[in-house]
Amino acid sequence: MKDAKETPGGVAFSGTWEICYRANLWSRIASRVLWKVGAFEYRNENDLYAAAKAIDWPRYFAVQKKIRVNVTAQKSPLKSLEFATLKVKDAVCDLFRDKVGSRPDVDRAAPDVRIHAFLEEAKGILYLDTSGEALFKRGWRMDIAEAPIRENLAAGIIMLTGWKFDQPLLDPMCGGGTLLAEAAAMARGRAPGAKRSFGFEKISTFDPKLWEGVRNERTVQPVEPRLYGSDADPEALQAARRNLGAAGVERWVKLEQADVLERAAPAAAGVMVANPPYGERIGSADELAALYPKLGDALKKKFAGWSCFFFTADLRLPKLIRLQPSRRTPLWNGSLECRLYEFRIVSGSNRG
Ligand SMILES: C[S@@+](CC[C@H](N)C(=O)[O-])C[C@H]1O[C@@H](n2cnc3c(N)ncnc32)[C@H](O)[C@@H]1O
Repeated sequence: MKDAKETPGGVAFSGTWEICYRANLWSRIASRVLWKVGAFEYRNENDLYAAAKAIDWPRYFAVQKKIRVNVTAQKSPLKSLEFATLKVKDAVCDLFRDKVGSRPDVDRAAPDVRIHAFLEEAKGILYLDTSGEALFKRGWRMDIAEAPIRENLAAGIIMLTGWKFDQPLLDPMCGGGTLLAEAAAMARGRAPGAKRSFGFEKISTFDPKLWEGVRNERTVQPVEPRLYGSDADPEALQAARRNLGAAGVERWVKLEQADVLERAAPAAAGVMVANPPYGERIGSADELAALYPKLGDALKKKFAGWSCFFFTADLRLPKLIRLQPSRRTPLWNGSLECRLYEFRIVSGSNRG
């Protein structure tokens, strides 16, 4: 991989197809890996059409492939993104008709090939999507418990906690078990994309032999993790059980039904990570305001020696829990601004 650099909302890099396949298969936190196929300046829809028609699309994919176009814009002068999307789609189809005599069909629900246009004020970029379905879809989720977080966000949270695979890890509000499933996959050295297919398999540059080689690489020595999950809601636990089973990691996770205020620590020290219910989505703000002070007390009483991380959009949490956070990391859950708070529980200290 070369020239990796941070961009707004992502990372840009250049590299071979091998790197692209590996990034798709192994990235636990990316949403998509996009291949830049064109950059242009524009002022109106006609410029956008011309820029999209200047790309040799038949070189990249066959006319039988079903396509979908996505346009995203920031400060673009164009009035309608829907119209801009149509313009790009028309340009691609018109070029195919000119060059090969027929045009690809559009399939918004299950496309083979996704084309993304990103528009800024006067510049745009066209990408072919090498991921296909977004990468947070790992291919294991069976049950949607209440308000699950995306798999790539869950993996990013686990990484931010600094959890070492040989430390005990507990999610005492585990819902459908997303954090536990991601932690288990990391410790076991499982590729997050091992159970799914990718967009790059549908484009003309696809090299099945190279892909086979990348898929079969074993790069990490698996560790036997000690993972614990609990939730007050039996239905959430059932969802967690099914999800962890489908992900093939249930043997490393001990699940039990328990209220977070009542459960004991499963070891003398470890990492706790949880995504408590948030008022806007589930549970009322008042209920949460009542839960947090009790949670602070329970942590002090039972989790001395633990580092406890809470991911939430409720910025009142540190105040209500009455503990001093040792770290607060801003994160976005879609468009919702959130924080990952860390509380290091040492007996007799960190009262805020
Ligand atoms: C936002 S959801 C967690 C979602 C989970 N991170 C996932 O991705 O599937 C919050 C969970 O906290 C649980 N919960 C709420 N109050 C609780 C309590 N007092 N003790 C234990 N679990 C609780 C809910 O049942 C719910 O499953």
